[in-house]
Amino acid sequence: MTSDPLIEQARAAALAAYAPYSRFSVGCAVESVDGDIVLGSNMENACYRLGICAEIAALTAANQSFGLDRIARVAVAGGHVGADGALAGAAPVTPCGGCRQAIYEAADIDGRDIELISANGDGTQLIRSTIRALLPEGFGPANLRDAGK
Ligand code: THU
Repeated sequence: MTSDPLIEQARAAALAAYAPYSRFSVGCAVESVDGDIVLGSNMENACYRLGICAEIAALTAANQSFGLDRIARVAVAGGHVGADGALAGAAPVTPCGGCRQAIYEAADIDGRDIELISANGDGTQLIRSTIRALLPEGFGPANLRDAGK
């Protein structure tokens, strides 16, 4: 257990993952600048390449709920769900490269940064960072202003 509710919500969201193929459950909690929170979890598919990550699921929920441009913090947690129904696993889940790009998009709409917290299964190991630290020199909406339109 951690004292940050955002991490606990990410861990809880992981329990709703649909991950029958990898057996790796990931949850993501996204918090707005106003403190609203939405959740997502990974959803796999028998056609393996169609699976989506927890972060993408949560980002679409965030866009529906309060807007991509209003995200302040993102927490990600993952591991395997044990026989006792609890999320377990040693390593904090940092977002994959594709998800970093998607989170960067949200941050760069208004030239901001987004706080990122990665947790392991039981929430005892944390990595605290920001999207601009995890994706340095990223390419985002600001770059496209140079398209000259
Ligand atoms: N996964 C996520 O949901 N987020 C990440 O950042 C890393 C990986 C999912 C995708 C797949 O369903 C499972 O974890 C194993 O890769």
